Amino acid sequence: MDRVAQWDRRRFLGALGAAGLPAWAVPADAQAREPIKRPIPASGEELPVIGVGSWLTFNVGASASARVPLVPVIRTFFERGGAMVDSSPMYGTSEAVIGDLLTKVPQHQRLFAATKVWTYGKAAGERQMESSRRLWGVPKFDVIHIHNMLDWETHVETLQAWKAAGRVRYIGITTSHGRRHEELERALTRSPFDFVQFTYSLYDRQTEKRLLPLAAERRIAVVANRPFDGGNLFDAVKGKPLPTWAREFDCENWAQYFLKFIASHPAVTVTIPATAKAGHMVENMGALYGRLPTPEMRRRMVQHFESL
Ligand SMILES: NC(=O)c1ccc[n+]([C@@H]2O[C@H](COP(=O)([O-])OP(=O)(O)OC[C@H]3O[C@@H](n4cnc5c(N)ncnc54)[C@H](OP(=O)(O)O)[C@@H]3O)[C@@H](O)[C@H]2O)c1
Repeated sequence: MDRVAQWDRRRFLGALGAAGLPAWAVPADAQAREPIKRPIPASGEELPVIGVGSWLTFNVGASASARVPLVPVIRTFFERGGAMVDSSPMYGTSEAVIGDLLTKVPQHQRLFAATKVWTYGKAAGERQMESSRRLWGVPKFDVIHIHNMLDWETHVETLQAWKAAGRVRYIGITTSHGRRHEELERALTRSPFDFVQFTYSLYDRQTEKRLLPLAAERRIAVVANRPFDGGNLFDAVKGKPLPTWAREFDCENWAQYFLKFIASHPAVTVTIPATAKAGHMVENMGALYGRLPTPEMRRRMVQHFESL
């Protein structure tokens, strides 16, 4: 940033402060930067590399008082260039909460709606996907994943038929926490999935060995879940300063360190950190901008993290 731009930004932030607005209220486009996007291999359609998860954070129940604090969270997500919102019927009230939030945040045209099917049997699967669609209030989902591979051979047939009929745009399959990777590999080699979702983080890098290369080889989009290991990564770095060299890839905080590590893997399409706090959303969405670490820098990031 040149000195005039820096001064303008300081003045702008000062004016916001004077207006009683927190710094995170600065819209991302005030920074006039392009978000980092990755193509979905099946279509070439580009997705912003940072999405949002909803497992525990959006499962807040039916009361308005519990839901209202999430409005700035989702608004910040869209204002700062986000698109993929990930959920599942397994996440309690999260899908209903998302549907509610979308009505309160009209600027969500970029939404890339991602849910899951999580039940046994064809008829129950179809009912569940239709119920999810109503809860979200969307005409159709961009992607429906088969959650934790549950009855996947049944649901993959339904999803292929739905995709052919234009009822869903892409189909995917998930696991997490390093579970059942061999079975997932078999599913990916037997059926034509557009997306696969599994855990990948600085703490859990086991998918680097087989699943990430397999997805790249088969041209399957990768959604990296649990990017903060459920929040545990922040405990690991508590009180530890960010290394000065993190500036070389435009990283301002540990959240961006963790997310830019994932986003810089060439096989990753999007990662979906979850948060219930607008301030955390600002930190996380910062990873959508600026430079990404080089392969050499990624090795340094791992060494440094493991030394803490
Ligand atoms: N099998 C599957 O398909 C599967 C399994 C697991 C997860 N998922 C998906 O992946 C998503 C992400 O995984 P996850 O929810 O398990 O965990 P995660 O995204 O790794 O971590 C979420 C935790 O990190 C904290 N956090 C977020 N941003 C932060 C920041 N900037 N600073 C400090 N703390 C921060 C959040 O707390 P605050 O609210 O305080 O920010 C929350 O407790 C899920 O929500 C779900 O959509 C899918």
